[in-house]
Amino acid sequence: MTTDPDHIILCVSQPSLSARDEARMLAAIHQAARQIYAQPLTVVRLEGSGEGLASALRAARDAGAGHVCVLPTGFPMAANIRAWLPGAVAHFAANEAGDMQVELATPPEPEDAAAALVPLTQSARVSSAQATRPSLGKPGWQFLPDFDTHLLVCTGPRCAFRGAGTLQLRLKQALAEAGLSDRCLTTTTGCLYPCNQGPLVALYPQGDWFHIPDEAALQRLVTDVIGQGLDAPELRLAERPGGLRAQSLTTRKEA
Ligand code: FES
Repeated sequence: MTTDPDHIILCVSQPSLSARDEARMLAAIHQAARQIYAQPLTVVRLEGSGEGLASALRAARDAGAGHVCVLPTGFPMAANIRAWLPGAVAHFAANEAGDMQVELATPPEPEDAAAALVPLTQSARVSSAQATRPSLGKPGWQFLPDFDTHLLVCTGPRCAFRGAGTLQLRLKQALAEAGLSDRCLTTTTGCLYPCNQGPLVALYPQGDWFHIPDEAALQRLVTDVIGQGLDAPELRLAERPGGLRAQSLTTRKEA
């Protein structure tokens, strides 16, 4: 850090966390960071659910922070995140920071994570595998879930930066309010690739993908597209000209 920042943002890279483990992990990191940093601090996830980094940067700016430092943590932090994060923080600095100085610490390398984690194994509790009941699943897990529409909500890092961290929750609430929950299976995914159009939701079996930038778009997806089977061309992602999907659509229309 060049000088003492007046706000710290710790960002966690750990895509696969249950809601319970996410809460435990964010709280534990907050508590540990409190032992080191006296400044106001925020802990966010870079992927998955939650408010996300852009939202934390905006909140620090709106609270009057003059200098914020973003500290990435990871166990380890994946190469794509290490490559992407500097540009994303720079995007915020260039477009939204105003007078707030923004710094980014170097994300940890896999070797850094190993040095921190391996010593922890020495104090781990162990139990006998022979004394544990064998299991690869639970009764009932052989059946398909009951649904006719599958929604894939991208919560990869670039969509999360654009607000996708709370999208699945908001989508489930809107589906419930519209009485459509029983028809829909809503799952989160990692990066689906059209990141520049995030946050996005892919709908199957229709095969249409939608850009969901705000609540109005979310409501339109739920009530018009899913509820009534209508199109929402202004939200639907375009096919790559000449691409495989574009060709198969043409073939379908001609048939
Ligand atoms: S992060 Fe969502 S499409 Fe890449």
